[in-house]
Amino acid sequence: MSRVLHITGARPNFPKAAPVLAALEGSVEQVLVHTGQHYDDRLSRVFFDELGLPEPDLNLGAGSGSHATQTAAVMVGLEQVFLERQPDLVVVYGDINSTLAAALVAAKLLIPVAHVEAGLRSFDPTMPEEVNRRVTDQLSDLLLVTSADAVGHLAREGIAAGRIHFTGNPMIDTLLKHLDRFDEAAARQRHGLSGDYLVATLHRPSNVDDPAAVAQLVSVLHKAAERMPVVIPLHPRGRAGLEAAGLLESSGVVVSDPLPYTAFLGLVRGAAAVLTDSGGVQEEASVLGVPCLTMRPNTERPVTITHGTNRLVGVEGVLAALDEVLDAPPLERPAPLEKRPPLWDGQAGPRIAGVVLDWLAAR
Ligand code: UD1
Repeated sequence: MSRVLHITGARPNFPKAAPVLAALEGSVEQVLVHTGQHYDDRLSRVFFDELGLPEPDLNLGAGSGSHATQTAAVMVGLEQVFLERQPDLVVVYGDINSTLAAALVAAKLLIPVAHVEAGLRSFDPTMPEEVNRRVTDQLSDLLLVTSADAVGHLAREGIAAGRIHFTGNPMIDTLLKHLDRFDEAAARQRHGLSGDYLVATLHRPSNVDDPAAVAQLVSVLHKAAERMPVVIPLHPRGRAGLEAAGLLESSGVVVSDPLPYTAFLGLVRGAAAVLTDSGGVQEEASVLGVPCLTMRPNTERPVTITHGTNRLVGVEGVLAALDEVLDAPPLERPAPLEKRPPLWDGQAGPRIAGVVLDWLAAR
């Protein structure tokens, strides 16, 4: 039996990996590695419990640090693991530092790499994730893409067409699987909400690391909160800066700790709109049919604009866009299949498994 090692490390990896592991179950020997990039229970453990992911076979405990420190810690840990386990294939997910570290180590050991969510490009060199995406894709043997635009990006970067497979979005498999558990009434009760509300998520370094950007963000959120409550589950990154800039000084702002998967999506499902700088939330809101205002100058997920509910408005454009969105007729929730991006249909995991198994059989 072939041996496949899955590398996960941070919150957004887990809902992407779960359907791939499930679809490969029984066909290959699987080893689930957690690099330990995220270590708080609320960013990691709760996802394993809720998504039915198997307990990681190994946790490297890499933890936080500068980009070099963190990436290096994951690399050192993974090199040992790859040498001991001798995988036939390493599967990496998304664009976090652990993704890049795994691809680098595997490539040097001549171990093939499959990249799930390959080919996304923001063309923004200030995003650490953009560096991670580009390098990971160059080092990958199998490029599994979530949207058609990614195929074009990879082709332009010289990746042979035979290595690229448009398999759809496994994170949406997870969302559709758990849809019935996204309970907006429970979310309202949890956060003390009665009428309409907004949800905001903020964690991009460009928004939360620079004091001037934080001040602008807080001012926009306070103005939004004059219209209706804004619930903000706060990522540890930036929490102190946002609070120091007075985020809590508006009675309309409701902050919470990071939420478990189903609690967060229950909250999003019932929201009038979502304001975010996250990548994954643009995708989740699009499928749930919830208007999404992205507080960034660019997105690596333009399919959520052309085939979803997303609008790229920056921080400065949020309030005007919010007026338009709140005045517009309500959207169907969740979005019907024909209004979603192609292959965001709940079957990406089996398609990815099919590509992987064919590839292993051909070797
Ligand atoms: C990382 C990913 C980002 C992803 C995000 C999802 C990279 C470069 N960034 O960003 O793409 O969208 O995860 O959450 O890989 N911290 C904790 N507890 C934890 C982990 C982190 O408190 O369990 C705090 C630490 O202060 C740490 C900071 O958050 O320094 C940043 O963590 P890190 O993993 O470096 O990056 P994220 O901002 O979480």
